Amino acid sequence: MPDIQVSSSHLPKHIAVIMDGNGRWAKERGKPRVFGHRAGAKAVRKTIKGAAKLGVKAITMFAFSSENWRRPEEEVNLLMDLFISALTREVKKLHKNNLQLRVIGNVSQFNANLQTKIAEAETLTAGNTGMVVNIAANYGGKWDITEAAKSIASKVQEGALQPSDITEELFASELTMSDLPAVDLLIRTSGECRISNFMLWQLAYAEMYFTDVFWPDFDEDRLVDAVSWFVSRERRFGCTGEQIKALME
Ligand code: IPE
Ligand code: IPE
Ligand code: MG
Repeated sequence: MPDIQVSSSHLPKHIAVIMDGNGRWAKERGKPRVFGHRAGAKAVRKTIKGAAKLGVKAITMFAFSSENWRRPEEEVNLLMDLFISALTREVKKLHKNNLQLRVIGNVSQFNANLQTKIAEAETLTAGNTGMVVNIAANYGGKWDITEAAKSIASKVQEGALQPSDITEELFASELTMSDLPAVDLLIRTSGECRISNFMLWQLAYAEMYFTDVFWPDFDEDRLVDAVSWFVSRERRFGCTGEQIKALME
């Protein structure tokens, strides 16, 4: 066996997470779905902490999809309330840890209170130099691409651009998160193996990790599992969770 050295340069730079399975986690315990969403919020905190310790540049967490409005009104309202209270509670901690918080998605459809909280949180943490934490809320991969297309079309209409100027690089620069490294690891919990209209363009070359763990059970150790899997795939050698954990110290 060659002597395997794992260094932080082997780690993913941008991790995207589809946090799924809150409802089933609650159901297994005979509890209402809200119970699962509350537990899921704790898993968000643990995952952000673990990713920051690993020195990941950006983490993007899918909190609410553009399709999730189709859920019962009561559940949607509850998710909004949870989002507001988590933002209020967590933003100071994120700021203290030098993390930058951004909310990605069509926030204009949220209520005024939530929009204000989002703007305040983004402004407070905008100058931080640590990991970027993107919360994808009312986000859809198709929405992202459509918005980019609209913006490019306006520039062409104004005469600022020619259709022949439209390259992949130019298109990418109009998408959300264009200033961040490409997503190299996607994690989806709960055993579902689909993208559910999360980032489409940005996932073009991501390694995709699907785990049966329900989101509320996800934590630092489960993140280490995913990252070890990623490093092993990328480098084509087997590395251990211990080697990854050692990088957290
Ligand atoms: C993910 O858990 C959280 C959100 C989509 C907001 P779900 O609510 O989708 O839980 P399941 O998939 O029904 O178990
Ligand atoms: C995807 O989960 C969206 C989020 C995690 C926010 P869903 O549970 O909404 O996805 P589907 O409906 O199973 O595809
Ligand atoms: Mg689900």
